[in-house]
Amino acid sequence: MSKTIIISNRLPVQLQISNGDITAIPSVGGLATGMKSVHSGGDSLWIGWSGLTDEEIPDVLAPKIDKALAEHGSSKVRLTKEEVNGFYFGFSNRTIWPLFHYFLEYSEFELSYWETYKTVNQKFADAILEKAGEDDTIWVHDYQLMLVPQMVREKRPNISIGFFLHIPFPSYEIFRTLPWRREILQGLLGSDLIGFHTYDYERHFLSSVRRLLGLEVSFNDIYLDDRVIKVDSFPMGIDYKKFHEAAHEHAQRNESQKSELQKRLDTHKKSAPDAKFFLSIDRLDYSKGIANRLKAFEYFLNKYPEYKEKVRLIILAVPSRSNVPQYKLLKKEIDELVGRINGELSTVSWTPIWYFYRSMPFENLIDLYTSCDIAWLTPIRDGMNLVAKEYIATRTDKTGVLILSEMAGSANEMNESLLINPNNFEQIADTLYQAINMPKKEQQERNGILQKRLERYNVEKWANDFMTSLVNQKEKEDVYV
Ligand code: UDP
Ligand code: G6P
Repeated sequence: MSKTIIISNRLPVQLQISNGDITAIPSVGGLATGMKSVHSGGDSLWIGWSGLTDEEIPDVLAPKIDKALAEHGSSKVRLTKEEVNGFYFGFSNRTIWPLFHYFLEYSEFELSYWETYKTVNQKFADAILEKAGEDDTIWVHDYQLMLVPQMVREKRPNISIGFFLHIPFPSYEIFRTLPWRREILQGLLGSDLIGFHTYDYERHFLSSVRRLLGLEVSFNDIYLDDRVIKVDSFPMGIDYKKFHEAAHEHAQRNESQKSELQKRLDTHKKSAPDAKFFLSIDRLDYSKGIANRLKAFEYFLNKYPEYKEKVRLIILAVPSRSNVPQYKLLKKEIDELVGRINGELSTVSWTPIWYFYRSMPFENLIDLYTSCDIAWLTPIRDGMNLVAKEYIATRTDKTGVLILSEMAGSANEMNESLLINPNNFEQIADTLYQAINMPKKEQQERNGILQKRLERYNVEKWANDFMTSLVNQKEKEDVYV
């Protein structure tokens, strides 16, 4: 029977070794959380990196590692420390990530990173070739593996390959600055179908293909030798039911069933029933605009001082890529900003910002989503932003306000939220004011529309649409040949 092979750098779980024991912790980030639902619902194998380098895995533990991954329907690609440094911390996160998020000044064009990226992409391609039958479907994910489609195609000319990019594809003017721009495009063109979150990313990609490779592009199709490659947009959804039902279940809990976090949130709510909680959840990443958000919060409190002691900002910043210098610097900046703002504005009974630097289990995410009146997400650039969708899905009584940056891919589908430009503090302060004062009826009207859309365009539909399109394209190509 044919199967789908999902391939991404991150697996649904990350393995850790302590005292000779292996623990699997859920991976953070939109790719892992979204694809986990797709993977658990079907017959697929997921190939990726375990999160441990070869040097960290003692020989005696190797079989246990394979077993632990197999329990999650996964299989690992082995990477050495040097490979992780050049491929993951290097080319993926010091070259491509900043460039594709328009942080051109952060991008490092380092030849050795590129060389390791090629070596490691070949390792992933080899892992696919080892496991894949001729009738299997290969679904490659994200910017860490952009060369894999062509590497697989060379060895298996007829196999079905889809690629999905979870981050923005930048405009031609940005993309053209990459020294290895042609190789990246050629790598992606090994696919039969290339998917993006939005129509804009799709157009940017097609424009780069036309201008850098001079290929014939007609509507969504790229003609390359005897092949036709389709490019399309598939905005990724969430597992709506999982979040909505978890929120319902959360609402039924009695005092003894509540988490410690929830009890604390309740205590604060009780002591100041009119106070509003603002919430932001992101990986600690410069693309998420966390520093701007903190400064905008201070700006808001100065512009509308009547809200001092009446609002609180809860920031959950999840540690991410902390070996990359820009992330280290950002951590320092955020720590200092939180310290300064809290130091200047706190009173004996009020701390304006609660800052958590950690990841939280699903249960606590639901505590936060359901307890906060306003979700406030201000990415400078974001491929999609699933947190925005998750917040809306948990609002079972349809109250709550979402303030979302127009630079997030999800803003295209969430027009009923309050959209802001993350660089415009004046607009942000006024939007916070509007959110605090929005009548309940208006909140429910806006969220009702959003919830219907999110429920319909959920992650299952996203995966089905992509797969159906891949099958159709393959049939079309076979006729063309
Ligand atoms: N998330 C998580 N644990 C946390 C905080 C967040 O698993 O402690 C999840 C969150 O629920 C969401 C994902 O991480 O599904 C973040 O995805 P998003 O698209 O918002 O941003 P990304 O991290 O992919 O850039
Ligand atoms: C984004 C990327 C994913 C990545 C995730 C977490 O969502 O698109 O590919 O897995 O961030 O980042 P990390 O570097 O920890 O895998």
